[in-house]
Amino acid sequence: MSLSDAEGLLACPRCGEALLLADGAAACSTGHSFDVARQGYLNLLGGPQPHHADTPAMVAARGRVLASGAFDGVADAVARALVGCRLLLEVGAGTGWYLGRALGAFPEATGIALDISTAAAKQAARVPRVAAIVADVWRPLPLLPASVEAVLCVFAPRNGAEFRRVLAASGRLVVVTPNPGHLATVRGRYGLLDIDPTKDERLAATLTGFVETTQVRVTSHTEAGADLVRDVIGMGPNAFHAQVVAAPSLLEVDVTVRTFRAEPSA
Ligand SMILES: C[S@@+](CC[C@H](N)C(=O)[O-])C[C@H]1O[C@@H](n2cnc3c(N)ncnc32)[C@H](O)[C@@H]1O
Ligand SMILES: [Zn+2]
Repeated sequence: MSLSDAEGLLACPRCGEALLLADGAAACSTGHSFDVARQGYLNLLGGPQPHHADTPAMVAARGRVLASGAFDGVADAVARALVGCRLLLEVGAGTGWYLGRALGAFPEATGIALDISTAAAKQAARVPRVAAIVADVWRPLPLLPASVEAVLCVFAPRNGAEFRRVLAASGRLVVVTPNPGHLATVRGRYGLLDIDPTKDERLAATLTGFVETTQVRVTSHTEAGADLVRDVIGMGPNAFHAQVVAAPSLLEVDVTVRTFRAEPSA
């Protein structure tokens, strides 16, 4: 969707009232106003971007890694998990690549890409049928209650209570998390952060009120050249390692795609 199509879904981050778009800005009836950037995204942070937001260099590296095809199997599994949903929200969307791939499979669907990084939102705003917004997933999401049919969260922070609030009653939550073998060779070789072995328990704890309905593991192995290895290092929290002399390496993808529905009683 374009930003104007997102009107009717967006909520003011300061008072929760509906946001209306006019003259290059979004404003609520109380008078809070937020500018639409010339690159087409709407910044609803209402303050400076925090320093942990992904940088332009990280976003560019991630874009090249995704374009390499190494994560195509994950995108396909995500799209399958979203079949039947026409109004999607991706949180921590980065470049909006997974959302764009899902929308490519569903001609009638549209989506909102939310990220705390303006560099990411600039890229997501270029994805067809996507409205890009800058917001913090740890604050009330700038969306009206029950406004979307699906929430997608790929390697990004999860705010279960807010996901429930913005999901329609029959809505679906799709979460992708890495398994311990994910990118294991590159992580081992360059001393990158390990994947938390308690991730599954933490996932359950953050998603109280949701019931898991499906779980699919996606694995693949490809040979990556030195440039791609450098980008894999540079796209993540270990970006400061990206100056190392990278060498060709095995690239293992090992993730789980889980689908949840909200428990009616919760
Ligand atoms: C590991 S990246 C994943 C990006 C994208 N989902 C993908 O897989 O290509 C995590 C993303 O979450 C975003 N992020 C981190 N903290 C956030 C927050 N508090 N609110 C919204 N987005 C956040 C980062 O800017 C980054 O784009
Ligand atoms: Zn307001």
